[in-house]
Amino acid sequence: MAIADTNSSDSLPHGALTESSLRTHVWPLFSRVLAEGPKHIYLANHSLGRPLDQTSRDVQEALDAWYATLDHAWGPWMDEIQRFRASIATLIGAHRPDCIVPKTAAGQGLRAVLNSFDDLPRVVATAGEFDSMDFILRTYHHKGRAKVRWVSQRPAADVLSTPRVVAEDVIAAIREEKPQLVLVSHVYFTTGQVLDPAPIIAAAREAGSLVMLDCYHSAGVIPVRFAELDADFAVGGSYKYTRGGPGACWLAVHPRHLPTGDMPEREGKLRTLDTGWFAKKDTFRYERPDEPLLSAGGDAWLESTPAILPFYQARAGLALTLAIGVERLRAYSLEQQAFLASELSARGVRVIGPGADRGAYVLLPRADAPQFCQRLLATGRGVNADSRQGLVRFCPDILTTREDMREAAEIIAGVVGSTP
Ligand SMILES: Cc1ncc(COP(=O)(O)O)c(C=O)c1O
Repeated sequence: MAIADTNSSDSLPHGALTESSLRTHVWPLFSRVLAEGPKHIYLANHSLGRPLDQTSRDVQEALDAWYATLDHAWGPWMDEIQRFRASIATLIGAHRPDCIVPKTAAGQGLRAVLNSFDDLPRVVATAGEFDSMDFILRTYHHKGRAKVRWVSQRPAADVLSTPRVVAEDVIAAIREEKPQLVLVSHVYFTTGQVLDPAPIIAAAREAGSLVMLDCYHSAGVIPVRFAELDADFAVGGSYKYTRGGPGACWLAVHPRHLPTGDMPEREGKLRTLDTGWFAKKDTFRYERPDEPLLSAGGDAWLESTPAILPFYQARAGLALTLAIGVERLRAYSLEQQAFLASELSARGVRVIGPGADRGAYVLLPRADAPQFCQRLLATGRGVNADSRQGLVRFCPDILTTREDMREAAEIIAGVVGSTP
């Protein structure tokens, strides 16, 4: 299988990923970060993914088009946006490319949906949602622009488990509140819990509620299957697992909410207030009818003049992810996490995960988690990891070797042993 879009002439053999095949066929695509990056062991791949060499060339290509062709650069720039939408649609199994609405942040996607309801939206969300989403909801709630009910996580049962979002709790809240919108994560950012959204989506459908999935920690990690799940919305972004840097995010909208004509209300469809002239019908005809008319389909959800560079920045990482395939990346990630867990266990350190019910990292509960991470970075070669709410997250990726993980386990066990 050729990883053609990354400009590599090499090809990765079919079948399961192995460290040696990755080293031969994929590592050369990362020569810059491997040579120029810090020499510590990078296990924060769930936070900021490592960039391909091609990424800087892609961004340069966008700028070169501007120097060389001035306003004609809008041609390739707009094509790149369509390419991004098509790639994300493939990555998350969406119905078609225009279902993907480019955003600069996942939170921007949430606001666009909140601002599409005519009445004060009632929202059910879990207490485990990421801070950006949580903060937006709290702000809307506080300003009287939404009425939010938070569903608590169930506490951890023992030291080797984490708090959990339980689908039945979300469903009970949906049945009571009959909200306009339900927000749940596909994979929870603190605990890595994989939530099966299917029963929640079914209950929401019965109650007449729409469901948004936060896929920031699932897209590129596990298959998302947006169309198959029949969710109404999903949000995600490129800077973690698809190595695209900040700014290239997206809101996926189910086609049943997308207008076929230019007045969504006439079709009983949603129309968001988060709009701009790129959502207009025939943007470049500069017409101003009294009734604002929209483009059809997902373009009705576009906003103002878009930033262009994030789409180029996201291109190579998305191409690599799609070329390798999420299933193979997932299988390799589980294998690596299991190896790291067993190296730690051999040194007396038990971690949470891996498992089918967890995302891309294993977890070490620590009351002193931030200080613990600082100590990890300062010990020996250093381990770069991070923590959320007392859980230290360790995420290997395709550039992490078994030797790295063995050394990391040694450092982690040493720091565990030297602190109370
Ligand atoms: C689950 C989840 N959602 C959303 C985000 C990012 O939100 P935003 O793009 O609004 O900053 C993150 C970032 O870490 C995340 O982990």
